[in-house]
Amino acid sequence: MSNERKVWRNGKFIPWEKASVPLLSHGFSRGSAIFEVFGIHEGPEGPFAFRMDEHLKRLMQSARLLGMEMAYSTKEIVDAVAETVKANHLGRGLIKILAYWGEEAIIQMVLESKLDLAIFAIPDSEELGLDKVGPITACLSKWRKIHPETVPVAAKSCANYLNGYLARRDANRRGFDVGLLVGTDGFLAEGSIESVFLVKDGVLKTPPLGRILSSITRKSLLQAASTIGIPTSEDSILPEELFVADEIFTSHSGIKVSPVARFEDRTLPAPGPISRRLIELMENILHFRDDRFKEWLIALD
Ligand SMILES: Cc1ncc(COP(=O)(O)O)c(C=O)c1O
Repeated sequence: MSNERKVWRNGKFIPWEKASVPLLSHGFSRGSAIFEVFGIHEGPEGPFAFRMDEHLKRLMQSARLLGMEMAYSTKEIVDAVAETVKANHLGRGLIKILAYWGEEAIIQMVLESKLDLAIFAIPDSEELGLDKVGPITACLSKWRKIHPETVPVAAKSCANYLNGYLARRDANRRGFDVGLLVGTDGFLAEGSIESVFLVKDGVLKTPPLGRILSSITRKSLLQAASTIGIPTSEDSILPEELFVADEIFTSHSGIKVSPVARFEDRTLPAPGPISRRLIELMENILHFRDDRFKEWLIALD
C-alpha cells in the first residue's frame, strides 16, 4: 500500500516510508499526539469529505484541551487535505491527520513548540472494509472507560487509545469483535474506536457526552434519526439495558452503522428494523441521494 503514496508533512509531500519520527520524540515516547480520521467519498463532481468541518473543529479542540498549539489554521488544513487527496488520487478512503511533537524530548514532559502536522490518504481495501455493514459481535469489557477527570476524554489523543486497545484485546481473546466499556460511574460509555447505540421500544438510545469522545458519526446519526421521525435519547444507560435491548449497533467514521448480531450470550436481529432504516439513510446521504444533509459532504477542490 505504501508504494508511491505521498504524505503531506508540514507543507511538503514526502514518501510514505519516510513519514517517521525519532523514537525519543515526545509524540512517540510519551504518546502525546492527537489525530482525526474521516471518510472520503467519490461524488459526481469529484471527491468529498464527510463532515470535515466538524472533524477539524474537534482537532482544534483536542489541541486546546491538552494545552497544545497547532501550527496550521483550519483553512490551511482544509487546503492540505485537498492536496493530499489529489496527490494520492484517493477515491473512496480515509484521511488521517496526525498532529504531534516530532522533536526528541528525552526527559521533558512539556514542550512549548507548535505541533508538526502529517496527513495520510488511505484507500479503502478488503481489510478496511469501509462500506461493509456486516453484523458484528460485542461483549462488555472488563476494563473501565478512562475517567474524564484523569485526562480529557473529549480530546482525540493517541494516549487515550491504550484504554481502547485493552478493551479490544480482551474482547478478541473472548471471541468477540468489539468490547464495550462501562465508565467508572457504572454507566455504559463506548467501544474502543466506536460509539454504541441501542434501540428499545422504538427509541434510539446512546450514552450522553461528557465521558465519551464527541463522535461525529454519533452526532450525525442522532440528527438523521430525528429527521426521519425516530425518537432519540442521550440519557445515561446501565449496561444491563444491553441485555434487554431490541437492537444494538456501533458506529464510527469508517463504518456508519455496524449491527450487533450477538451481545454476550444474546442473539439479536442484525440489522433490526431501526438499524436498517439508519443504514439505508446513511447510504443515501453518502451517495448524494438525500439533499437534506448535503452540507455534510464537503467538496475538495
Ligand atoms: C473512542 C471512540 N469513540 C467513538 C468514535 C467514533 O467517532 P467518529 O464518529 O467521530 O469517528 C471513535 C472514532 O475513532 C473513537 O475512537
